[in-house]
Amino acid sequence: MSEHGHGHGHGHGHGHRPVHSDLYTALLAEHTSAEPGPRHVVDLGAGAGAGTFALLSRFPEARVTAVDVSVEDLQRLHDRACELGLADRVRTVQADLDAGWPDLGTADLLWASGSLHHLADPGQVLRKIHDVLAPGGVVLLVEKAVHDGLHGGDWAPMLTEAGFTVAADRTLRDNGLQVVLARREGGK
Ligand SMILES: C[S@@+](CC[C@H](N)C(=O)[O-])C[C@H]1O[C@@H](n2cnc3c(N)ncnc32)[C@H](O)[C@@H]1O
Repeated sequence: MSEHGHGHGHGHGHGHRPVHSDLYTALLAEHTSAEPGPRHVVDLGAGAGAGTFALLSRFPEARVTAVDVSVEDLQRLHDRACELGLADRVRTVQADLDAGWPDLGTADLLWASGSLHHLADPGQVLRKIHDVLAPGGVVLLVEKAVHDGLHGGDWAPMLTEAGFTVAADRTLRDNGLQVVLARREGGK
């Protein structure tokens, strides 16, 4: 992830490999080991797909809907999916989540890395995420742990407020990221 604003090539290192892709792969392995394989995953604020490709790899049976406001990033994501032969498992949805909520269908897992703090009303977005998830579905957030004065950052209480049960909430000392896993109750 980066400090950039919209549509400026987030999460990319010097090569073509997103900076956090290995970290995301590790986080998914650690935090979703108890989860049944999701069929539909939403990556909210997907950017160029650092999370999307980790999700596709972690869940070989799943399809991923990647949502972002940036046409440019979504095009890069799509191009990469084509290169990797994964295009049939990825749908890109261009949407400004501050302006309205696209129809995303029902998701079993929703991933949002570095994106929620960009949004004007994260509390409302968490309620939308709750609605998008199937009963028993989980949301996995990765955000900067440091409060910067601009955004709430206290994700666990906000998730609880939105109706979730928080299953994990940890800060990674190495990189100052906060990882929160929460479940929509009423599972299968
Ligand atoms: C720091 S990047 C993170 C990208 C990716 N999830 C990752 O982990 O590398 C934040 C992303 O949120 C997207 N974003 C910011 N505001 C948005 C909005 N209002 N609606 C949809 N996406 C938005 C940006 O375009 C950007 O791709």
